[in-house]
Amino acid sequence: MDVRCVSEIVKTQTVREGGGFKVRRPSRINSITSPFLLLDEMGPTNYGPGEAVGAPWHPHRGFETVTYLLDGRMRHEDSSGNRGDLNPGDVQWMTAGRGIIHSEEPHEEFKKSGGISHGFQIWVNLPAKYKMMKPRYQEIPSSESPTVSKNGVWARVIAGECMGKSSKIDTMIPITLIHIKMAKDSELLQAIDSSLNAMLYVFKGKIKVENKLAVRSKPLPSGLGVKQQIEDGELAIMSEGEKISITSEEDSEFLILAGPEIDEPVARYGPFVMNTVEEINLAFSDYQNGTFVNP
Ligand code: FE2
Repeated sequence: MDVRCVSEIVKTQTVREGGGFKVRRPSRINSITSPFLLLDEMGPTNYGPGEAVGAPWHPHRGFETVTYLLDGRMRHEDSSGNRGDLNPGDVQWMTAGRGIIHSEEPHEEFKKSGGISHGFQIWVNLPAKYKMMKPRYQEIPSSESPTVSKNGVWARVIAGECMGKSSKIDTMIPITLIHIKMAKDSELLQAIDSSLNAMLYVFKGKIKVENKLAVRSKPLPSGLGVKQQIEDGELAIMSEGEKISITSEEDSEFLILAGPEIDEPVARYGPFVMNTVEEINLAFSDYQNGTFVNP
């Protein structure tokens, strides 16, 4: 159980979010992807002048939202008084904790000019002990997030470590989030602590992961070793192990995600992710009573 192999491939479907923007979303993202609750690839969408849309003011409680922009320009504002712009390569790591209300909209200038908008929004669950923490906000401009390039492999380390570079971001639970670009026929051996769940989301090209189980003569355990190739628009859930061995069959781009299993009940309703239905009801009544942000 040394090298992780693909245990399941989840295909994406295209849905509309927020003000109507298009996202690619893995069709099944739940307990098998803990602690990740959502993985939305926003776009790429080529907007004409005046067409770009975002997500107007809405609340969150009980988890973290991570926004990583690849193309376009966004402006965010929240109820804690944070306001900023996101440009390509920038990351916003928002810990909603007990409650935050925010808007995620295209920047005025981008809205006027139009252009290509592309990025990710990822929801990271919080264990019960952090769900009602004070909201926290971290913004990492592209110039401050470590990148590394070696033998045809480029990486931006948003969280965790890759090819000797580590991110400085402070996460509540140990998270790995890395954007990788691989030239055709390049190779990457990525260590992932064996205590973490790991997955790969490919959004360009095609990669292959080493699968030691696939060459064993014995029949494979159900679901294991069925497929080791991961294509554009596929989320691969990896088996247990200590590392992932990846080769690129063509110029490819993907995210590596890893984090600990949060072994707690999940009660989820729209923008709230808690442990019980009572806590969801409380989130709604706090929101309606105006005690959501300032108790
Ligand atoms: Fe949001």
